[in-house]
Formats: sequence, C-alpha cells, structure tokens
Amino acid sequence: MKNEELVALLKDMSLEEKVMQLVQLPGQAFDASAAVTGMTKTVPERIKRLAGSTLGIHGADKIRQIQKAYIEQHPHHIPLLFMLDVIHGHDTVFPCPLAQGATFEPELTETCAGVQAQEASADGVHVTFSPMADLVRDARWGRVMESTGEDPYVNSLMAAAMVRGYQGTDISAPEHVASCVKHFAAYGAAEAGRDYNIAELSESTLRGSYLGAYKAAIDAGAKMAMTSFNTVDGIPCTAHKRLLRDVLRGELDFDGVLVSDFAAIKELVAWGYAKDEGEACERAFEAGVDVDMGSECYSNHLAALVENGKLSEKLLDEAVLRVLRLKNELGLFEDPYHGADEARHAELALSAKSRALARQAVQKSLVLLENKNNALPLSGGSIAFIGPYADERNIQSMWAVNCKPETNVTIREAVIEALAAATEGSANFASAHFAGGCTLLDNDSELAFFRYHSDTFEEDNKRLLAEALDAAEKADTLVLCLGEGMLQSGESTSRTQLTLPAIQQKLFKAMAATGKRIITLVFTGRPLVLGELADYSDALLVCWRPGTEGGHGIVDVLAGRASPEGKLPMSFPYAVGQEPLYYNHAATGRPRPADAAKPSLFTSRYLDCPNEARYPFGYGLTYGDCTLSPITLSANELRAGEALTASVTVTNTGARTATETLQLYIRDHAGSRVRPVKELKTFKKITLAGGESAVLHFTVTEDMLRFWSANNRFESEPGDFTVFVGLDSATQNGAQFTLRS
Ligand code: GLC
Repeated sequence: MKNEELVALLKDMSLEEKVMQLVQLPGQAFDASAAVTGMTKTVPERIKRLAGSTLGIHGADKIRQIQKAYIEQHPHHIPLLFMLDVIHGHDTVFPCPLAQGATFEPELTETCAGVQAQEASADGVHVTFSPMADLVRDARWGRVMESTGEDPYVNSLMAAAMVRGYQGTDISAPEHVASCVKHFAAYGAAEAGRDYNIAELSESTLRGSYLGAYKAAIDAGAKMAMTSFNTVDGIPCTAHKRLLRDVLRGELDFDGVLVSDFAAIKELVAWGYAKDEGEACERAFEAGVDVDMGSECYSNHLAALVENGKLSEKLLDEAVLRVLRLKNELGLFEDPYHGADEARHAELALSAKSRALARQAVQKSLVLLENKNNALPLSGGSIAFIGPYADERNIQSMWAVNCKPETNVTIREAVIEALAAATEGSANFASAHFAGGCTLLDNDSELAFFRYHSDTFEEDNKRLLAEALDAAEKADTLVLCLGEGMLQSGESTSRTQLTLPAIQQKLFKAMAATGKRIITLVFTGRPLVLGELADYSDALLVCWRPGTEGGHGIVDVLAGRASPEGKLPMSFPYAVGQEPLYYNHAATGRPRPADAAKPSLFTSRYLDCPNEARYPFGYGLTYGDCTLSPITLSANELRAGEALTASVTVTNTGARTATETLQLYIRDHAGSRVRPVKELKTFKKITLAGGESAVLHFTVTEDMLRFWSANNRFESEPGDFTVFVGLDSATQNGAQFTLRS
C-alpha cells in the first residue's frame, strides 16, 4: 500500500478500530496451544475481532487459518501481526545470546539470526522480540542469559548484527522478520538482580553505559522497541515520557512501533504509579507506548480518554499509523501470510546447513577457563562422562519456545558418534563410559515455572553415585557434565547464590577424590561461583546453554577437532557478594593496591574476598599459547580528525593452532566525570598455527575517547590516556598518549 492509502484507511476507521490496533492479545485468544509467556484469561469477542496483533503463536497452516478468518471478519480487512520470542533460535536453536557474546563474532551472530528469521517466518512469525540489548552486570539476574554481556561495545555490535540478520534489507521478503529491540531501558540494572524491580542509576551511567546498544539496534533499523518492567528515576519505563518520547523517539530518532512488555501497562497500578487501569492507560499512552501487550488497559479505556479529550486523537492516529505502516512494510496488505509456508518450513527447519552453523557457533562460544598441564584436548585412553548433563536433552534455554529437545544432540550421543566414526585415535579417546552421577537439581528446588521434588531423591542419588564411582573406576579421565538447570536462568529466575546445586557439588567432590584427571563442563545461563570446581578440575569449559548442536560442538572441542576460542562476556566472581561485578568499573578514591602484598587498610576492598573477578571479562584460554609483545604507538599525541596506531606482535608459542581475540582497551586518566579503569574500544580475532607470529595494528581515533561529560553530551576532553592491548580485561600491556585540543 502507498502511504496515502494508509492514511486514507486510517481516516476511514472507527475510533474503536483504531484503539484495537494498539491491543496485542496473548496467543491463547486465537490458539490454545500458544506459547505461554504471560498471564492469560478469556478475551471478550469485541476485542478479539479487532485486535491489531498477537504473540506466542507459530505454525504456518495454523497462522494462515487464523489470519484468513480474522481478515474476513475485520471491517477493513486489516491483517493481524504475529509476534514471537525467537531470541536464539526457532527450530535450530543456537547458543544463548550470552554464549554468542562469548564468540566476539557479530558476523556469526548475524548469520545465525538470519537462519532464525528464515525458520520463524516460514513458520508464520512476522516479528521477533529480539535483540535483548540490556547491559548486564549482576549475575543474580537470571536474564543475563538473554543478553550479550557487560560490555557496551560488544552489546552494540551484537544487537545491530541481530537486527541485520532478522530484517535483511526488506522485511517484506519471506525469509525475514521484523525485530523488536528490548527492554527499553536499563532492565539489566534491576536492583538486587531481581526481575520487575527498580533500577537506580545516574543519567550519565544510563547514557554512557546502558543506552548504546539500544541505539545500535535502532540505527540498524529495528522496526519495534519494547518498554521494560523496571523504573528509571522512580518512574516505570512503560510510562516514562521523557525516556520514551524525548530520548527514544527524539534523541535516538526511533520512529517504529513501541510495545509494552507483557501487562506492564496494567502493572503501573501495582507500582503505585496509576490509581487504576484507566489512569495506567492514560499515563502509558501519553508517555508514548503504542501497543498494550497482554492487558486490557487500552481496550477498556483508550477510546473514552480520546472521546473525552483527555488524550488527543492526533496522538492516537500517529500510533495507529505506525502499526499500519509496520504491517505495510511487512507486505501484509498484499500478502497477509508473509512467509508462512508449511512445506518451506519443513525444508528449512533443522537443515544440515543450519545444524552445521549451530555446531560452529557452539564451538566458538565455549570458554576454556582452566587447562592445567594441557589436560585438553583429550589424548586417548578411556573416558567416563559423568554427571546429569551427560544425557540431558534440555540444553537450550527457557526462551527457545519452539525447541524440540529430541532434536538436540546430547553429550553421550556426540561421544558415541565420535567413537563410531573414529579412525585410529581420531576421537582422541579409546573408549567411553557414562553415568548420570546425581540428579540435576537439589530436592525441592524452586524453578521458573515449578518446584522440583522427588520422593525418591535420596535413594536415586545413592544409586547414581555408586554408578558414577563404578564408571570412574574404569576410566583414565573423567569428564564431569554439570550445570544449573535450564529453568534456573531466564525470566523470573533471580538467585541469591551462584553455585551449582549441592548434589552436583557432592558428586564433584567424590569424583575429585578418585585422583583421576578431571575435565569439568559447566552448562549455565549466567556467571557462576566455580570455587572448588575450578581449583580441582584439570580443565574447565563453560558451555552456556548451547542449543541444538550442543553435544557435537562440545565434543568437537574436547576431542581437539576445534580449538576453544570463546572469551567471557561477563565477569565470573569469587563470591556472589561481589555482584554487581564488571570490568569497566571506577577506580574509586582509594583503589586497593593491585599488589596484594601491599597494605590495603582504608582502601576500597572486602575483608573476605578480592575485588577482582575470578575470571575477568574477555578471558578465555585456547589450545595454543599466545603471548603479546609490549604495545607500541605510532605517536604519543592525538588530535580530533587524526589517528594513531597501536601495534602488538602476537606469537603462538604453543604447538596447536589457536584463534585468539586481541582486545583494545582505553583508560581516560581524568575527565569531567569519573572514568572507568578500562573500556573496550575494539577487538580483532586472529588464527595462528603453532609457532606462528603476526603483527596486529589497531587504529585509535578521538571519537573512541568520547563519553557523557559533565556538559551532558558525548564529547572527548584533552588529557592523558592509556591504551592497552591484551587477551582479557585484566591486561596491563599499555602505553600512554595525550589528546590535544
Ligand atoms: C516477557 C519478557 C519479554 C518477552 C515478552 C513476550 O515478560 O519480559 O522479554 O519478549 O514477555 O513474551
């Protein structure tokens, strides 16, 4: 449709029709089997017949039937929008977003997002509620799993890559979907790591650290945005007029559709920000929220507020036109079924090509934290794979709403496949034994959707431990397959402890007591306190929520067919008491001396724990052994419009090929606001064979030095800086330069 036709359509619509275009119904209103992502109840027919969109439904034929029936009865035959959470895979499930952050490869994420869009679009989906661009610093928050981590620069690259992958250059094409960047804004700062809570952060922190990734997604063309459940400055984001109309639409120039999070408008009443749902409707709409997801505030109150002049029909028309325009950009007026095609979906779903991509993504996302005496890659002998994740199929995340666990590859399946395919020694192990070792969870564990309880917990675990000891007896090396449960990270899974279940820790101790070589795999959606696992494992590999090809990708790395190259996208603490924990922190007025031997009385420290992360942002080992030369600079002064070059020589002194990620950080020694001790500004990945060297050059320019200054704008300030190039954020490989005005 041409724009003037859209405007004419809008003019011809009744007030009720306009209002209902701004109502998003839970999928259950149209399909009982829809993915449950929020509270649902029976929807009145007057709303259902005119609602503008729905969420949680997929299935090409099902959506075609719903859409056909809906359009036929709609007074202006306006098609429905179908939206779904496709955040790291639809049929083919890729590693969770935090794992993708560990790859430091936005190009890979873009390709994975493209596959997600193809599968979801063929399955009838028009819009995905992704990227989740929230900066995260508190591992107690279970939704860190859905983010790409604690660094604004990595998050910006990843968010933009996802938008490009989902949308391509034309969202009306059947292989693309529209993307919805979320949760605006700063949901990752929810206090105490608890969902739906307040976020207390300064304007300069909001702008300097949190807003960048949303901006990157918007600049990449995200067609929608979603408000977040938290408050900023005491005002719920879903009714935060300055944040939504002035910042999001004004400064960030977002002109797409703004949807609330599920029932967030109604929840303004629970917040004590609206006295009733009518006032909630008024405040959210005035603040700029176009679509009410999952509540009846707009459907029950918006028309009356416009009719009695409390809300302007002009604002209503603008909101409705944005929704109509999105439907038009998707081509729904010409083809209301978009990409929905059962046969095409069957052809695309879990194709060999997509599986191969997912397997590669798993390999690149794994982070090797320990590898004492080169315990990895496995080098022959008999191996016992022990632990609940040896056979666990649910290795995706709770947000992989369409994942069929039976399509996931378990550790056991991948090992058996490797053994069967092994020519002499190619699998790097001669024989394999398997044992569950213990239950995945402690008894009476509270999970996202239910409490786990087993009446036979004690005897089951006694039997499982005996089997594990028996398997261990037969093996030279033990691969312990451990991790938090799938429903212990994601929405509504905040935790006050970051350890593995006690029953798994008990298994670990028993296995460590055997004196055998211990390789520990950790499946997790968040940083954990690894403690004795790290102390007593010969090798420790973080596997995240790896998705469909988890078993294959992990065994590839264990067997040396791929070298681990992942780098931590979030700091791993010594203790949960350190949270929130992040590398780009302030120095404080009394920094604790880096040299632990020096007295630290009356400095910023803990009595019982280091300040630093156990494993810092950007850290990850490879099967090589790369070292860096001291950094050299092409100049020790820089002016706007100029560039200086920072160079290092990287040498792989190991015997095996390795892919390293060299990270360039900058420290601003003094500014009109306190500056972080380091900020990642760019990075480069390089693959080096054993013994190979390379010189890498990084360009440093003035724009890298800009921050939210005391003038309340992004700008650089003359002064001294140190530029570091290292293999993680703890690097001290630095050189100083001065920015001149
Ligand atoms: C949930 C989540 C949001 C998701 C939405 C729709 O409450 O906060 O990330 O996209 O509802 O499922």
